[in-house]
Amino acid sequence: MDVVQWESISVDEVEFCFLFGQNRTRDVTGARPNFILILVDDLGIGDLGCFGNDTLQTPHVDRLAREGTKLTHHIAAASMCTPSRSAFLTGRYPVRSGMASNDGTRVIYSLGDTAGLPRNETTFAELLRDQGYSTALIGKWHQGLNRHVRGDHHHHPSQHGFDYFYGMPLTLVDTCWPDPSRDTELAFSGRMGRLVQHLIALAVVTFVLGIVLRWFCVCCLLVPVSVLLIVLLSYFWSESHQSSRYWDCLLMRGHDITEQPMKAERAGSIMVEEATAFLERNQNGPFLLFFSFLHVHTPLPTADAFLGTSSHGLYGDNVQEMDAMLGKLLEAVDRLALTNQTLVYFASDHGGHLEARRGQTQLGGWNGRFKGGKGMGGWEGGIRVPGIVRWPGQVTTGQVIDEPTSLMDVFPTVVALAGAEVPQDRQIDGRDLMPLLLGQQQHSEHEFLFHYCEVYLHAVRWRPRHSPATWKVHYVTPVFQPPGAQGCYRSYFCPCSGDQVTYHDPPLLFDLSRDPSESTPLTRDTETLYDVVIRKVGEAVREHRRSVLPVPIQLSRPRNRHDPWLRPCCGLFPFCLCDREGRR
Ligand SMILES: *[C@@H]1O[C@H](CO)[C@@H](O)[C@H](O)[C@H]1NC(C)=O
Repeated sequence: MDVVQWESISVDEVEFCFLFGQNRTRDVTGARPNFILILVDDLGIGDLGCFGNDTLQTPHVDRLAREGTKLTHHIAAASMCTPSRSAFLTGRYPVRSGMASNDGTRVIYSLGDTAGLPRNETTFAELLRDQGYSTALIGKWHQGLNRHVRGDHHHHPSQHGFDYFYGMPLTLVDTCWPDPSRDTELAFSGRMGRLVQHLIALAVVTFVLGIVLRWFCVCCLLVPVSVLLIVLLSYFWSESHQSSRYWDCLLMRGHDITEQPMKAERAGSIMVEEATAFLERNQNGPFLLFFSFLHVHTPLPTADAFLGTSSHGLYGDNVQEMDAMLGKLLEAVDRLALTNQTLVYFASDHGGHLEARRGQTQLGGWNGRFKGGKGMGGWEGGIRVPGIVRWPGQVTTGQVIDEPTSLMDVFPTVVALAGAEVPQDRQIDGRDLMPLLLGQQQHSEHEFLFHYCEVYLHAVRWRPRHSPATWKVHYVTPVFQPPGAQGCYRSYFCPCSGDQVTYHDPPLLFDLSRDPSESTPLTRDTETLYDVVIRKVGEAVREHRRSVLPVPIQLSRPRNRHDPWLRPCCGLFPFCLCDREGRR
């Protein structure tokens, strides 16, 4: 144990108590831990060895689970990235911050979008920074960037409590990794081919025109040359304008763009180096590192060393690369002797994406026995994610908690352990995980969890205190297509409202403790408690609705507009090309 660290912590404690005039009781050591919060993007609960996968190799995630506690009933607040992460950062349902949509805009789609996490929302990073923690976000943000003009960075991570940022302000999109074996690349090379053809034609025309004009005067040569230049410039601009590869696939360090477009297959290893350097700089703590993987979102950019290493194609290779990167991170934690004073949390932002596939090849994750996946607000496969918490000497090793917990719980847990207080002026939906993790409590604090798809309430989970049941009531479910399929294969994501959903009256009822796959709805005939449960859950919905105050919807119009001029550019516009990581 690092003596210097203990000393500095006790000084902090004294100052803290002095400032606030009260002595907080902490049921744990009394020392404030460091935090490493890890989210994987789109990882399915069925993709990890420690969650029952026997063909994918994830030894480092498995190690975390062995050395910590596994949350097997861990629920995301939304089934898409942007809203789920807003809820994670703030401990609140996305409808409360307005980080939800009502027009099918499920996430922030481009760096030209004006949407972002409102500045008056409070993240755990902000509260921890105020407690003297060094805070960093390394990896994916996806909570907005610019709002009024290019470069205003109104929604930048630094506006939400992160001292240090390295990563993607957006998220991986399919154009980010033009793998030669894939269609996006064909489309890309198709465009390049057309460009070359046009340029040749243009050069010939200009040349001929030039010779003809030269008969008359030399100065006239200026005309075709300028025409050529203007055409060339506008062609380049319109080409890059179309391709989100230039405009969305970029990396930043702090407020500076380091790569545009990015080399997606090396971003992960730079992230690990950045994280290691952050840990080294802050080994005397306390720190909060939110390591937000770009893995395992499509297009699954994977370094050559991992291609072909799994028995599950590109997706499996990408999962195994993610695991190896986690291994390097844990190795750095061990090497710096931070293991015992660091709480490590690991989860996915929502379920695997069933509809992400090319032909017979599955490009999205596997949600095990749970029905549905990413984009489906109510079905378990969209929101049940793997969760692990490790804190040696504090959190029981090898424990499994099957009580409902939420990604939103990280907020109050981390805030309390850091000695801060959650905001009192707003509704916080997360609950402190420590009583469960320390075995002081057997039951989830979440009696009800509400499952939204955009702003629409699709389902509710009820975990009664004195019953083995976990009821799930569905009011709305998506219409799977083609008929008989288990996803929305015609539209890539299942919609949340309109004629592509079914409104259930009477609602569908399942008991997850008997039917985790939500395969057979219970009815009045098969479940004597049917009416009681529906009534009780209905009351909870009414009470919950009363607690949701009207706020501007951030992800839909008019607040969310697409303005191409907001998109960041590292060079002389429109030549937004740079690589400041060339040495690697
Ligand atoms: C393991 O994960 C792969 C890739 O997602 C999946 O295809 C396979 O079905 C999973 N195996 C088990 C036993 O869950």
